[in-house]
Amino acid sequence: MIDEPRPMIEISDPAQMRSWSRARRAEGRSVGFVPTMGYLHEGHLRLVDRAQASAALVVVSAFVNPLQFGPGEDFERYPRDPEHDREAAVSRGVACLFIPGQPQMYASPAIVRVSPGPLAEHLCGPRRPGHFEGVLTVVAKLLHMVEPDVAVFGRKDAQQALIIRRMVRDLDFPTTIEIAPTIREPDGVALSSRNVYLTADQRRAAPALAQGLEAAHVAFAGGERRAARIVDAAEAVIRDARGIELEYLTPVDPGTLQPVSEVEADTILAVAARLGKARLIDNVELGRGIGSDEWLEAASA
Ligand code: PAJ
Repeated sequence: MIDEPRPMIEISDPAQMRSWSRARRAEGRSVGFVPTMGYLHEGHLRLVDRAQASAALVVVSAFVNPLQFGPGEDFERYPRDPEHDREAAVSRGVACLFIPGQPQMYASPAIVRVSPGPLAEHLCGPRRPGHFEGVLTVVAKLLHMVEPDVAVFGRKDAQQALIIRRMVRDLDFPTTIEIAPTIREPDGVALSSRNVYLTADQRRAAPALAQGLEAAHVAFAGGERRAARIVDAAEAVIRDARGIELEYLTPVDPGTLQPVSEVEADTILAVAARLGKARLIDNVELGRGIGSDEWLEAASA
């Protein structure tokens, strides 16, 4: 009887979250975890599917973490839709939706933070001071509250996923970290809650980012190994699109996240760009290309 589906439970209290998780594990069920900032889209939900495949029960958290937003960033206007999140989570068979409020999450202010060290020296690190400290601190807290066997993160945020994997390794968290493929719209744009900031014109320009990354992959597949030439190949495509302001376009080593001058198959080419109010990021593993990511099918009208 224990395998009968139960209705999704919603928890906002961290202590209750931990005791729920411990009770399930005491029953012999493994717990999978997908941390999010809510406003769930198909990219998040594929992580849920992945967690369902790796664990008996899945917990999703939805918490917009103020610690990872800098002054002047979009914390206040970050999209929120708890009712939609609830429905989306139920539709994917989530066992528990963990929605702590600010006071519950930061009952005592986080004076001690988790430092990413040199992993935040490049890409988004210098552009968003304190961002990865904020991410690591909240993820460490969430992992302590949920105590999952496995937690799933998206490759779309490659720097974040790799830094979290390293934190878990360096600080001996007893959780397995899985990194799942980037989910893309039929035109290649990576799904993101922040895509709602795009105007129609900006949305039309946005595929150029993924197309640029793919052009870099094609150059790599054609034998190019000089990082500067790989960047040129991507930049030539992105420069043609209107209204895209490149912040960085950098090939990095997947272990150290340091820029490289010679690329290899596992080199990550990461891009960040502004399109109006939106700041979008994307990346590709040069030997694989965006074609090896997961793409949504075009809706048949
Ligand atoms: P959020 O942006 O809500 O993303 C939650 C998870 O979904 C992250 O692991 C992210 O990489 C993944 N994700 C988002 N878009 C994706 C896509 N198109 N394809 C695959 N995965 C995708 O990332 C955060 O929240 C926060 O920083 C968090 C880790 C929750 C800490 O606050």
